[in-house]
Amino acid sequence: MAVTEAERHAMTRALELAGNGPRGLNPQVGAIILSPAGDVLAEGWHRGAGTPHAEVDALGKLAPGAARGATAVVTLEPCNHTGRTGPCSQALIDAGVGRVVYALDDPGELSSGGGERLRAAGVDVEPGEQAEASRALIADWLDVQRLGRPRVTVKWAQSLDGRAAASDGTSQWITGAAARADVHLRRAASDAIVVGTGTVLADDPSLTARDGDVLLPHQPVPVVIGARETPADAALRRHPREPLFYPTRDLHAVLDDLRERGVQRVFVEGGPTLASRFIAEGLCDDVLAYIAPVLLGGARLALTDIGVEGIDGARRLIVDEWMPLGADLLVIARPATTKEGN
Ligand SMILES: NC(=O)c1ccc[n+]([C@@H]2O[C@H](COP(=O)([O-])OP(=O)(O)OC[C@H]3O[C@@H](n4cnc5c(N)ncnc54)[C@H](OP(=O)(O)O)[C@@H]3O)[C@@H](O)[C@H]2O)c1
Repeated sequence: MAVTEAERHAMTRALELAGNGPRGLNPQVGAIILSPAGDVLAEGWHRGAGTPHAEVDALGKLAPGAARGATAVVTLEPCNHTGRTGPCSQALIDAGVGRVVYALDDPGELSSGGGERLRAAGVDVEPGEQAEASRALIADWLDVQRLGRPRVTVKWAQSLDGRAAASDGTSQWITGAAARADVHLRRAASDAIVVGTGTVLADDPSLTARDGDVLLPHQPVPVVIGARETPADAALRRHPREPLFYPTRDLHAVLDDLRERGVQRVFVEGGPTLASRFIAEGLCDDVLAYIAPVLLGGARLALTDIGVEGIDGARRLIVDEWMPLGADLLVIARPATTKEGN
């Protein structure tokens, strides 16, 4: 049966509700229960790991038996596995729901298959309604499912001749105000800002996301990787969020732990040693290079060894955007697959 007008409206509303939920380990999901006549019986959304899923949240607002013959409109395929909560597909079956309209298939290895379970129980299932809007809402979560780790952006500022600092190690500031303002906005769109101990010791960065002197509403968690101690009076210790320190060089382990903490997007801000390791280990999904019309010369290159020995092994990039920012240029690029690079 085609999706009705009432179901379409309900999906728009469910997407709004989904956005109320937090970004984190679980996707943001909204659900509406409609009566057979198309009236809204209950609304629900997921409030984060360990709390009821959206469908169960909505069903929980109804008297026993009230969902019999009803339609559930959900922004993600009802899950099929027992995690911290039971499978939502079974909860819908148990409640006697007769029809389920959902937006996006669940890509999870363990959680997918809810649609099949519902069909097998005789429920009418209609997938794909406003799938693109749902995909956009949970794009970062979907990236984590696909990559098996948070999505990593590696960013640096460089002189036209490819240096990340002057010979004495000073690098503040290579780029101008417009480029730096752009960095702050992109920081605020991520969940964690990562630097190496070398950058902490050289630059004493605050790692806050700001508009001028004003802190932006969302502050990603600051993360420092490396064995050396961060000084007690370091600026990042005054960050509004408790910094995370990883005295290790195992970047996979760091990303695993950040994922466990619900981090979906990581913004690596250097320095050259750490940025190079993320790239060399294939842990870089996007590159942001802010290029300033200035020459620094010397040995402090924006990247060090990334494991390229000959030109055949060059890490080719696909450029998504060339963006002038004041006198500077931002290049947004991502690794080419072998085929694209050739
Ligand atoms: N232009 C820019 O965008 C920019 C950005 C940031 C910094 N900088 C400049 O870069 C310079 C600092 O460079 P840097 O390369 O020393 O800084 P860095 O990359 O921030 O720190 C290097 C340190 O990271 C730790 N580390 C963590 N994981 C690692 C791994 N897998 N492999 C190797 N090391 C790992 C090591 O610390 P431990 O030895 O403590 O274990 C290593 O010594 C400064 O001059 C700063 O001003 C420029």
